[in-house]
Amino acid sequence: MSEERSGLSAEELFARGDERTYDDFTLLNTQFSETDKCNVSLTTDLGKGVVLRVPVMASPMDSVTSPRLAIALARLGGIAVIHYNHKDAEGRPNIGKQVEDIMQVKRSQNGFIEDPLVVAPEMTIGQVIELGNKNREPEEAIRTFPVTENGQSHGRLVGLLRREDYFLGSRTNLKVKERMLGLDGLIVGDSTMDLERAREMIWQEHIKSLPIVDREGNLVYLVTRGDMEKSEQFPFATTDKSGKLQVLFAVSTWPESYERVEKGFAAGADGVVVDTSQGFGRHPLEMLKYIADRHLGKLLIGGNISTSEAARELARLDFVDAYRCGQGSGSICTTADAIGIGRAGATAIYECARAVHESRSKMVTIADGGIRFAGDIVKALALGAGAVMVGSMLAGSDECPGEKKLDERGRQIMEYWGMGSKKANVGGEARVRDYGNHEEGIVRRVPYKGKLGKHFPAVVDALLHAFEVSDCRSIADLHNGVSQGEVRFGLRGPAAVMESRPHD
Ligand code: IMP
Repeated sequence: MSEERSGLSAEELFARGDERTYDDFTLLNTQFSETDKCNVSLTTDLGKGVVLRVPVMASPMDSVTSPRLAIALARLGGIAVIHYNHKDAEGRPNIGKQVEDIMQVKRSQNGFIEDPLVVAPEMTIGQVIELGNKNREPEEAIRTFPVTENGQSHGRLVGLLRREDYFLGSRTNLKVKERMLGLDGLIVGDSTMDLERAREMIWQEHIKSLPIVDREGNLVYLVTRGDMEKSEQFPFATTDKSGKLQVLFAVSTWPESYERVEKGFAAGADGVVVDTSQGFGRHPLEMLKYIADRHLGKLLIGGNISTSEAARELARLDFVDAYRCGQGSGSICTTADAIGIGRAGATAIYECARAVHESRSKMVTIADGGIRFAGDIVKALALGAGAVMVGSMLAGSDECPGEKKLDERGRQIMEYWGMGSKKANVGGEARVRDYGNHEEGIVRRVPYKGKLGKHFPAVVDALLHAFEVSDCRSIADLHNGVSQGEVRFGLRGPAAVMESRPHD
């Protein structure tokens, strides 16, 4: 007699074509586990050198992705997408602000700092302090500066101005050359040394910063103790080859986006998301093609889509690395009712990921919208996603834009709003002209969650635990188990959902 299997395979779960989402099912504990969570890897390769150790991405939303959040999430192994809804004082779209956000993330942590803030000997200490504070949070302000003859990034090194060489509040009229440590007392590295040797020299010489020069004495890089410590403190950080944190940026499909694409990549972004709620159409595909033609080496993300027809079309293009899957499922989203078009989140992921797989494409499915708990991430990954994109799960973090407030019961809250809401007013006057009162998003309150570094590790621990229980060592393991019918699912009704939550 053959042994009966519990529950359903993914194929059976979705066979009838009913729309399903995360609450409609659970994974079943059918595998005898021999996996220990210290052997689990949650690594996901999005393509083009962007590899996440934690498969979580921050959505490009102006209530979520500040540069501080992007830095905090990348340090923990995820990645953020910088939004494009910055405005100037008159409320007009401001590309420069998005560029500054990207640069702030790229500058926050380095191995070899290729473009350190450099000052000239004739500058005053006051000017230097101002430069170090510019566009940075106080705790991230730069306080050590290589001094070059002409003040240029790669000019001839003449000294180093260190934090111990000046006061922040007094004697700021003095010139840099009067206080800097000149070449005589300065320890420098040579441009042939690798990062390990540079670090060792910092250790041996008891110094905080090591300028590295070429044979002519021109500054090439700076290596700092602070960056060394950060990379030890955050071993899972999402970094590029030179040790800088990675960051993506979003562009719309409007004409101004051509300029954004060029400026965003010039600022050092590692990839771009063509951000539209309806990614199956002429404008988004034209934008994807434009970017692929010019920036083939950079990560390119399309979407949002939710059907196998759309997934096959994106897969056919062959130059899209990943796509956002989900339409109408976000927690602040009213699209499905506003225009009557959308899809339940789980069905969208299963169907699209399968279509991509059958097209023999390597495009990564990013489950986007409706993820509330770590358990939803596990379910999304099981259905074929390689990563998830979240808004509400991160909203309310200390690093998010917006103010912390008290609600009528004295609880700390923050506001979280959709990019299609009037509050976001994406596009400013142009939006009002083209869409009038039409909205596809709302404003919500979310509890204040504190610093990302404090609340997010619990999500990672939950994911590791789920993989341990499912006897899967990697996302690929989980995908294989599901496609072979080994990973089983239980279909739930509303009473079962109630049972799975606290009972009163
Ligand atoms: P959440 O994680 O459930 O809060 O959903 C976040 C996702 O909702 C985003 O990544 C977007 O795909 C989507 N989204 C953001 N703003 C809006 C909106 O105003 N209307 C509809 N969907 C939105």
